[in-house]
Amino acid sequence: MTTFPSGVDLDWFEAELHRLEEVSRFPEMPRNLFDEGPHLITTPELPWGDAVREESVAAYLRFIHGETWITGGGAREMEAEVVGWLGGLMGAEEPAGFITSGGSESNMCAILTAKQRAGRRGGSVVFPDNGHYSLHKLCRMFDLDPIVVPAPGGRLDQVDPEAVEAAVRSDTIAIIATAGTWAYGSVDPIAEMGAIAQRHGLYLHVDGAFGGFILPFLERSGYDTTIPAWDFRVPGVCSISADLHKNGMAPPPAGTLLFRDASLLKAAKEICPPNGTMSGTRGAGPIAGAWAMVKLLGEPGYTAVSLKSMAMRDELAVGVAGIDGLDVHPGSRINMTLIHSRTLDLRPAAEQLRRRGWMFAARAVPGPVSLVVVPMPHNDGQTTDFLRDLRECVESAPRLEGTAAEKSPEPVSSYGF
Ligand SMILES: Cc1ncc(COP(=O)(O)O)c(C=O)c1O
Repeated sequence: MTTFPSGVDLDWFEAELHRLEEVSRFPEMPRNLFDEGPHLITTPELPWGDAVREESVAAYLRFIHGETWITGGGAREMEAEVVGWLGGLMGAEEPAGFITSGGSESNMCAILTAKQRAGRRGGSVVFPDNGHYSLHKLCRMFDLDPIVVPAPGGRLDQVDPEAVEAAVRSDTIAIIATAGTWAYGSVDPIAEMGAIAQRHGLYLHVDGAFGGFILPFLERSGYDTTIPAWDFRVPGVCSISADLHKNGMAPPPAGTLLFRDASLLKAAKEICPPNGTMSGTRGAGPIAGAWAMVKLLGEPGYTAVSLKSMAMRDELAVGVAGIDGLDVHPGSRINMTLIHSRTLDLRPAAEQLRRRGWMFAARAVPGPVSLVVVPMPHNDGQTTDFLRDLRECVESAPRLEGTAAEKSPEPVSSYGF
């Protein structure tokens, strides 16, 4: 038997690894209603689900020791294929870009590109109040002032374009819009924001971390013909991020940053040499896993996955509407579902649901707590059980006193972002 230099016994090591997998709750993934997990599984509507996922994992493993330097030839070809395909679907005539570690890095690289293009130090970035926290984070990192545009009437799924334009300052370098907001699932008025960006000569980045891998398929399949224009078809949009490890179904960490054309990629590489990414060494494994997913699913596969996720969202929304005191926040265009109440304090119910094994995010707005659920294929078959538990846990929920709903206290747990 192999002896390891540390003296650790193999049986102990295997048992410890198993324990850590259980601590990570991998065996319970179907009950993870957050956007984590091996998203793609076989369901009656997706009979090839497991086969595609297994091929993606196999490709990841075959490239696990690869990087994007000397041995990066294959990974760079795969990356170019993913970027070209997705950018084309999003209406770019000469798409360019790269694969990142996810939505936060993509947003960072987009704004660094805007900074490079503007050729200035400091400055400000304008974005609606529904922007993801990674936007605040990048402003702190890059010494930019975040100018947050308040939501009209407190409705975070909505954005007032006039207020966006009024927020632009002489030192503003970029506007950031979101297609598939966390946690409302809404799409900002990107056509209007594009026109504003053009009027003021500003860079417009669209954060499509969640929406980028579902909106094109909902739109192109005719499932939803009312999605407002949000991609490169909108003049003024410079870049779009879309996460492979969310609705792209790929193993993490994998996101994309897509540029309208190669001149923007050149600016990205000037500020973040050599690739335009924050990191230097990038693992080829996630790129290969994502490439396999894209090659094997293609547009028909992603369309089927998107329709499946939306069917589960609709089932959930109908069930929630049937529970006294609960609402699904209006305005979601994607599989993002925000469950809240105007009359009940859902904090105890959220804790009870967690004790029953459900995994989801909680949010302090609308207060005191709302539940964020993002159904994906790996949650297949869980909706009925979740709705039953939700109904039972909400039965004993205390009524909200006075204006408690407006106060937005701290979220109930560390998942509350
Ligand atoms: C709209 C939006 N942007 C960016 C991100 C950040 O993505 P990541 O966690 O992959 O960095 C998220 C994550 O939930 C998101 O919802």
